[in-house]
Amino acid sequence: PSILILNGPNLNMLGTREPQIYGSETLADVEALCRAEGARLDLEIDFRQSNHEGELVTWIQQARGTRSAILLNAGAYTHTSVAILDALTAVELPVIEVHLSNIFRREPFRHHSYVSMAARGVICGLGSHGYVLALQAADRLIRATAK
Ligand code: DQA
Repeated sequence: PSILILNGPNLNMLGTREPQIYGSETLADVEALCRAEGARLDLEIDFRQSNHEGELVTWIQQARGTRSAILLNAGAYTHTSVAILDALTAVELPVIEVHLSNIFRREPFRHHSYVSMAARGVICGLGSHGYVLALQAADRLIRATAK
């Protein structure tokens, strides 16, 4: 099975961006963690980042029929993008929403997520380990439907 892991705007700045909130790991470190867990679970990992809403929408559309699940940290688009929600709904794949920070401990505008309406589950506040947990969850969901 192949998993699309999508990262939205500003996540390319991880490591230097507000380290007190997001930690000192870079996005390359997060990718390496995902690749290691993917290898352990025998999942193919397609790990991407974009600062452009439309590019994220296109990548989500392309996952239809080609990927088994989507892990998505949509960054700030989480709180604004009906277009990403619509794309996630259209592809009919299990979606797991991930956030490094605990969005519920932060500003009220981060408490609402459009992505959540299309997600099977949400993991937030556990830093990069959340991606590892999300991969384990995706693996379980995929294997359960395969049976
Ligand atoms: C984030 C939380 C969002 O509110 C924020 O805009 C981000 C990162 C996180 O991973 O904690 O860019 O998705």
